[in-house]
Amino acid sequence: MKDFIFQNPTKVVFGKGKISKLGSEVKKVANKVLIVYGRGSIKDNGVYDMVTNSLKSSNVDWVELPGVKPNPILSKVYDGIELARKEGIDAVVAIGGGSVIDTSKTIAAGYHYKGDIWDAFTGKYKVEKSLAIFVVLTISATGSEMNGGAVITNEKTRQKYSFWATTSYPKLSVLDPSAQFSLPKIQTANGAADAIAHVLELYFDNTPNTLILDEISEGIIRTVMNSTEILLRNPNDYDARANLIWSATLALNGINGTGRSGGDWSSHAIEHSLSALYDIAHGSGLSIIFPAWMEYVRHEDVEKFARFSRKIFEIGDVDDEKAALEGIKRLKKWYKDIGLPVTLHDANIPFDGIERVVENAAMRTPFGRLKRLEPNDVRKILELCA
Ligand code: NZQ
Ligand code: ZN
Repeated sequence: MKDFIFQNPTKVVFGKGKISKLGSEVKKVANKVLIVYGRGSIKDNGVYDMVTNSLKSSNVDWVELPGVKPNPILSKVYDGIELARKEGIDAVVAIGGGSVIDTSKTIAAGYHYKGDIWDAFTGKYKVEKSLAIFVVLTISATGSEMNGGAVITNEKTRQKYSFWATTSYPKLSVLDPSAQFSLPKIQTANGAADAIAHVLELYFDNTPNTLILDEISEGIIRTVMNSTEILLRNPNDYDARANLIWSATLALNGINGTGRSGGDWSSHAIEHSLSALYDIAHGSGLSIIFPAWMEYVRHEDVEKFARFSRKIFEIGDVDDEKAALEGIKRLKKWYKDIGLPVTLHDANIPFDGIERVVENAAMRTPFGRLKRLEPNDVRKILELCA
């Protein structure tokens, strides 16, 4: 295990009915906020009313930025920054999933920056100041509710990039499992694939002696799988939601990255190119790319891949290479069984689109820690997705 410093400043309020606590928490730092949300689900499931009632009862005023789309775009961020400055708000309240939270984080950072906030994504500007961010989480997937990362697509350049800043951790996140009962099954499945991918990006980063982290990782993956299977049968199962939600948060709130080398993140880089070009849901992109990446790089650490297979799928008495391959096959089958795509064809992405994805990814290659990937490696991984 490597030396590390771990600090996570986000306060989490977890449980049914806890959205009512938001207003009093916000009031401690803000009199007027920008509320940011997506394309309607929070109006349909009552979460919007719960949030605004809570703000009202604590005398917090608000202005609204609705309409954030999945794979959120930079122009929406610019709209939000302009509105936030015009209205003189004190904090941003994100009501939604990763797309809404990341848009909110970027607005909160851009509010203070005189230049173009896209600079934060290209490395030209290091975010050091941000408005306070509050989150009401409605879909569990990204871990954005308890980390300092944000991912935005620059729709002009087709770059889907991220930034990370200590000032971008939400001040408070409300995680109410009942707010996720309304999720369509495919969104629950997308979220599960993303949470699993976060665990695996960290798990396969070639750091020796990480037993406690590996055990945590495997526990998270088994819990995500088990809870997802229950939820696909009964979307309103409170305990399964609760377990899935907290698993997805723990997957990327920093705990699971302690003592490691930072993770591999190649599958995420390739997926971000895929979703920048084809606007596919992030979880669905990962269910295609991740198994292919595993197959391509497994010889870099076949023992660890075999451990994954044994711990997750109880694959028994075979050698490491066979166990590794069997685990990858079972993971792919599990994705398929929960309704996710596992090939480019499943997601209606043409095989001849591979070159576009390679070209897009090449803006950032080489990447990856377990194996450094060059454009030709990315091409070969995508060919395994055919
Ligand atoms: O727009 P609405 O109507 O709200 O519908 C959303 C959206 O269509 C719907 N939804 C959310 N909560 C719901 C609901 N529908 C019914 N009931 C509810 N309770 O779900 C759809 C997807 O929402 P989105 O926010 O896009 O999902 P997710 O949380 O998976 O976020 C994905 C984005 O986050 C990025 C991804 O790349 C992608 O852009 N990521 C962010 C990370 C981070 N900040 O740490 C890390 C990740 O690896 C990831 O890259
Ligand atoms: Zn992800």
